[in-house]
Amino acid sequence: MRELIERLYREQTLAPGELRTLLLECRGEDLDFLMQKARAVAQSHFGNRIYIRGLIEIGNCCHNDCFYCGIRKSNRHLKRYRLDAETILACCRHGYELGFRTFVLQGGEDNYMNDDRVTEVVTAIRTEFPDVAITLSLGERPTLSYKRFFQAGANRYLLRHETHNEAHYRRLHPEDMSLSNRLRCLNDLKRIGFQTGTGIMVGSPGQTVDHLVEDILFIEQFRPQMIGIGPFLPHHDTPFASCPPGSLTQTLTLLSIFRLMHPQALIPSTTALASLTPDGREKGILAGANVVMPNLSPVEQRKNYALYDNKASMGSEAAEGLRLLAQRLAAIGYEIDKSRGDYPGKTL
Ligand code: 5AD
Repeated sequence: MRELIERLYREQTLAPGELRTLLLECRGEDLDFLMQKARAVAQSHFGNRIYIRGLIEIGNCCHNDCFYCGIRKSNRHLKRYRLDAETILACCRHGYELGFRTFVLQGGEDNYMNDDRVTEVVTAIRTEFPDVAITLSLGERPTLSYKRFFQAGANRYLLRHETHNEAHYRRLHPEDMSLSNRLRCLNDLKRIGFQTGTGIMVGSPGQTVDHLVEDILFIEQFRPQMIGIGPFLPHHDTPFASCPPGSLTQTLTLLSIFRLMHPQALIPSTTALASLTPDGREKGILAGANVVMPNLSPVEQRKNYALYDNKASMGSEAAEGLRLLAQRLAAIGYEIDKSRGDYPGKTL
């Protein structure tokens, strides 16, 4: 195991069978060793600094019906909301004052949020805050829409592929969604010039170790600038309500593998990981993550952006809890970096 980890550290790649072994057998002291190597690589590029992104959940209306997600179309028990442009801008102003220089606008796939409306908000943010990075996470769109968003001043786009295995993709999504369109979107985004993020849920229903190896190989060849990895967590109003959550060990193993294979990538310690276990945020950073995304949405709407049960959005998960976050990071030897935090390597 140590030999494998050393080689992954040196060569930034392993054969599929070796990745499989790592995913199945890396535990205890071996996992500590893997995380230590991943941490060393993150620190060689980013020091002990963690970038912060202000997450604005702009709406929970969604025309998709993903089986895992709490804001799926079929969920009738959810209070739906949309933030108007002025409210989104107010969140940005609040965030800017707190020191945020990246805003992430995330929401369900909502026809109301058409190209004109998205472009209008992006333009308004870009005009008022020329020095911030604008990240969008608004799902699958036509190529032309992505071009318009980029031209309006958006810089980054997050779109997890969720799984690179066709059969598994169908197990997670209804028939009107396709892996091929998801991949088309990701290729568009990268080609247009977005710093592009993709990723998966760990332990989603039906996921096998072989699927994870496929995901690692896909991400290896796609070379995204950002990689989002968090555990699957059940939501009570979905078909997967009674499925078990993803495992902490497997999530940390994957975070470390991605850090070792993608030394310069921007890798968040996700809200899902922080929601899985009280010190999840810290554990993710100790596994090689270098980004956190505190919640900057209006407090009264946070509970409605419920992708899964018990989602953390207050305290150190909240933008207004930055001081607490700083303390928690300090306790593990890290500090907040308030710069834009662009991808340090070459894009494309
Ligand atoms: N558990 C964990 N992550 C989830 N997401 C959606 N639903 C869940 C869930 N139940 C993730 C998906 C999506 C991102 C916005 O949130 O990976 O891409």
